[in-house]
Amino acid sequence: MSEFIDPNIIKRIKNLREELHRHNYLYYAMDDPEISDSEYDRMMRELIELEAGYPELSSPDSPSLRVGVSPVKKFQTVRHSVKMLSLDNAFSNSDILDFDKRVRKELGTDEQVLYTAEPKMDGVAVELVYEDGRLVTASTRGDGETGEEITPNVKTIRTVPIILQRYKEERRIPARLEVRGEVVISREGFRRLNEDMLSRGLPLFANPRNAAAGSLRQLDSKVTARRPLEIFFYGTGESEGLDIESHWDRLCALKELGFRINPHIKPKIKIDGVLEYYSELERKRYELPYDIDGMVIKTDSIGIQVRLGQTARSPRWAVAYKFKAVQETTKILDISVQVGRTGTLTPVAHLETVNIGGVNVNRATLHNEDEARRKDIRIGDTVLVQRAGDVIPEIIKVIDSARNGSEKVFNMPENCPSCGSRVIRDEKEASVRCYNESCPAKIKAQIEHFASKRAFDID
Ligand code: IVH
Repeated sequence: MSEFIDPNIIKRIKNLREELHRHNYLYYAMDDPEISDSEYDRMMRELIELEAGYPELSSPDSPSLRVGVSPVKKFQTVRHSVKMLSLDNAFSNSDILDFDKRVRKELGTDEQVLYTAEPKMDGVAVELVYEDGRLVTASTRGDGETGEEITPNVKTIRTVPIILQRYKEERRIPARLEVRGEVVISREGFRRLNEDMLSRGLPLFANPRNAAAGSLRQLDSKVTARRPLEIFFYGTGESEGLDIESHWDRLCALKELGFRINPHIKPKIKIDGVLEYYSELERKRYELPYDIDGMVIKTDSIGIQVRLGQTARSPRWAVAYKFKAVQETTKILDISVQVGRTGTLTPVAHLETVNIGGVNVNRATLHNEDEARRKDIRIGDTVLVQRAGDVIPEIIKVIDSARNGSEKVFNMPENCPSCGSRVIRDEKEASVRCYNESCPAKIKAQIEHFASKRAFDID
């Protein structure tokens, strides 16, 4: 270790850290980047190299922690200073109207109460504690009273500020600030992650929420760093010095401190606006890049929140209105095989028609042979089917208890169901393909693709 470090190196490291924190904020909290991704990556590489050369200059606040640190043996537990509550559920418009009535009765008022309505993100709740503007602890919700300490993992999430910066002169950084939010993985990130898991022969995640939870609970934060985790903040625990009287204004203050807030939040609306917002959210649900499973409304006035208080489990000033279930059970009548544009054979389940969230479903993709085998899907099985927006419905699992022994195991054909030529299995991609260039099914799929929206967009 060198006794003397060139002051220019110290200065450069300091400058790189500050700049990387600032660009991170501009990119993720403000959605207003000043530099390109490659410039950001270049600065990050330079910082990592400098820190490797001068370990005595390492810092718990460095943006290089985004790539992860040495693994831990087990997680420590952390006590939340303010209990992390759950939400009561509403299942219909009339439940929401009843909730509003209860709130007004409790307050003894006939006047309209203002609510801030938010998407209910389907991820993992976490709490982050900042002392003097530095992220010191991050933990899972756990049982609400104590959770697991996952600080190095949370520091790898690019949308998490490691250091808070004052972007408005008048905004003081609180001495101690506890912020709460939801860690999610986008559907696209989930798809790519599972593709990667499949290609490495690892077990797949069932859905983006499981993928987010699994990624956060890695003992090796370098693994977490490679997972496409994101976070949205929706509230605070203890927040000394953040004296704000409205929930929405508090979210705005958090945003100014560098915390990412969901852009679809509707502030300060009356109860009929809340119901409109819910239908809008239901319609827009699959346009959002990540899963949401409903709406949360909170009385906007913090004064009202304090007056209403809470039960042992949940606040009396907030409620979650969950979307209708989009999973149903039905029976597999048959399994056929489709030949795609590139010749890939995809098994497709033909189902007894079932209505899932307002849409009749009679087919579901089995993705590929390995997937069908892994889930042990057989003809005649009763299965749980899920529909997610415009994506093809898929089978979540087989209901084993419904089997009676008459179910038939499905095997991929050895010949193309369209042209009859021998198909070839690609072990690496877990796919089976027809390589006949004049296969009629392939040509038909190619023409369809050629005319489709994503290609020539022919009506
Ligand atoms: S507020 C006291 N807002 O839903 C209020 N929660 O069942 C506590 N969630 O554990 C939560 N999106 O993980 C709130 N916009 C949102 C949310 C949200 C998702 C999750 C959160 C919480 C669970 C409550």
